[in-house]
Amino acid sequence: MLIRPRRLRQNETIRNMIAETSVSADCLVYPMFVVEGEGVKEEIPSMPNQFRFSIDALLKEIATFGPLGLKSILLFGIPDHKDEMATSAYDENGIVQRAVRAIKAKFSEIYVICDVCLCEYMSHGHCGIIKDNDVDNDPTLELLAKTAVSQAAAGADMVAPSDMMDGHITAIREALDAAGFTNTPIMGYSAKFASAYYGPFRDAADSAPHFGNRKTYQMDVRNGREAMHEVELDLEEGADIVMVKPGLAFLDVLSGAAEISNVPVAVYNVSGEYSMVKAAGKNGWIDENAIIRENMIAFKRAGADIIITYHAKEILEKGLLK
Ligand code: PBG
Ligand code: ZN
Repeated sequence: MLIRPRRLRQNETIRNMIAETSVSADCLVYPMFVVEGEGVKEEIPSMPNQFRFSIDALLKEIATFGPLGLKSILLFGIPDHKDEMATSAYDENGIVQRAVRAIKAKFSEIYVICDVCLCEYMSHGHCGIIKDNDVDNDPTLELLAKTAVSQAAAGADMVAPSDMMDGHITAIREALDAAGFTNTPIMGYSAKFASAYYGPFRDAADSAPHFGNRKTYQMDVRNGREAMHEVELDLEEGADIVMVKPGLAFLDVLSGAAEISNVPVAVYNVSGEYSMVKAAGKNGWIDENAIIRENMIAFKRAGADIIITYHAKEILEKGLLK
């Protein structure tokens, strides 16, 4: 036999020497949920070890990130007040806006990305204004743009629209620029699928739609080519980063996006993916830490530059990147 690939697998040194993929702490983004109140740190039942924090408790939590090397969060707000126009999404004293001001005042070095969507703020749980039982695209763009501007004004380092409305990047870019936020980057949730993997998140954020589903705006899970179209559109509209979501069941899409994108590519390792690992780990059915590491490597190997994951903190605490 002339060719024996096993020659280069004989010990750890040579295996490490030829390793093609590595994950660094710098690429991890930690999603967090903020609620009204004081002294609140409530565990999300379907997401073990993930919490809804009031602003004071959120600050205490973030204070632990520095030594871990955790540098960036993706912030979701859960307001007390919901209505048909998602008014608390773009209120300058909304939960996210106050949280961002508080974080940046205390931890200016923490990179704060704000999710831009309306579902958590709408009484019906959909991602936009409802007309004739469906989300009305163009009027929704105005509210998304207002939301992004209010987040930037509060000090957000980046905005990340997850709404899947057509033309959302253009609408948000124009509004940010008009308000003087020309340097605020936009990370588009470009290829976001109508996925059952968001189930635990909707518990966490109290954002499940009260009627119907999100299939008239989020993508059909059967479509890979269409996902490339969505990525191209966000790129043409000036997205600074494009994202694929969910991750594990969509690695083909991630890989395709990484191939066509000339800007960085993010992947969102979503709530259902997290909860499945946690549940199996708790039962002793898998080696949880090894699975987490393997999943992160899979994202990198498929082409992700940025990994948004609920595992971010534990990865750094447990040193799973070594
Ligand atoms: C809001 C939003 C969702 C997620 C991120 N932003 C939920 C949804 O679209 O239903 C999902 C995140 C996760 O499951 O971890 N539009
Ligand atoms: Zn939404």
